[in-house]
Amino acid sequence: MKEILVLYYSHTGAVKEMARAVARGVESVPGMSARVRTVPRVSSVIEAVESPVPASGPPYVELRDLEECAGLALGSPTRFGNMAAPLKYFLDGTGGLWLRGAMAGKPAAVFTSTATLHGGQETTLLSMLLPLLHHGMLIVGLPYTEPDLTSTTSGGSPYGATHVAGSGADRPLSQEEQRLCVSLGRRLAQTASRLAT
Ligand SMILES: Cc1cc2nc3c(=O)[nH]c(=O)nc-3n(C[C@H](O)[C@H](O)[C@H](O)COP(=O)(O)O)c2cc1C
Repeated sequence: MKEILVLYYSHTGAVKEMARAVARGVESVPGMSARVRTVPRVSSVIEAVESPVPASGPPYVELRDLEECAGLALGSPTRFGNMAAPLKYFLDGTGGLWLRGAMAGKPAAVFTSTATLHGGQETTLLSMLLPLLHHGMLIVGLPYTEPDLTSTTSGGSPYGATHVAGSGADRPLSQEEQRLCVSLGRRLAQTASRLAT
């Protein structure tokens, strides 16, 4: 069984919901399973120490998760049109893997959630792709053969799956957003499976 690492950060739950749908897509591919992981918060107060185990939800990611995975789905809420600091902080610690080319040739995909429709979904996705390209990962997006990409009135982008959560973080994933998350996970797992043969 090959595993896709579904790695996300979520503060109010929207990206967590997306990660679940991406993982469902991964697991719809025979021989593939999802390893879901998250990252701890970062604090500007350097004395603050996070518990090594989250109070609830998936475990915190370790570098070996990246090494062991056959592909990576990376999810972050937008922060001023960019990826969130906790995820960036973790990625900034992957220099050793980069030096060894440990991620080179593995497929990767990205997903994000914003409060507003034009609040920086695509810039966030692109910001997340940059370090993955430096790692030599092969980027998997969403093609326009997905009918939801054309019909959606909220999230959905060829650069990755997206969700518009609303300024009160009160909008659940739309049917289109949900299906596009599942498709992204499926495409990523199918690609990883093909690359492995
Ligand atoms: C510091 C900060 C900056 C944010 N910047 C943006 C932004 O640029 N555009 C936007 O639409 N939403 C922005 N948001 C809202 C979140 O990205 C949005 O609520 C997201 O859905 C949260 O995902 P989560 O529920 O997984 O934490 C920001 C939120 C915070 C706390």
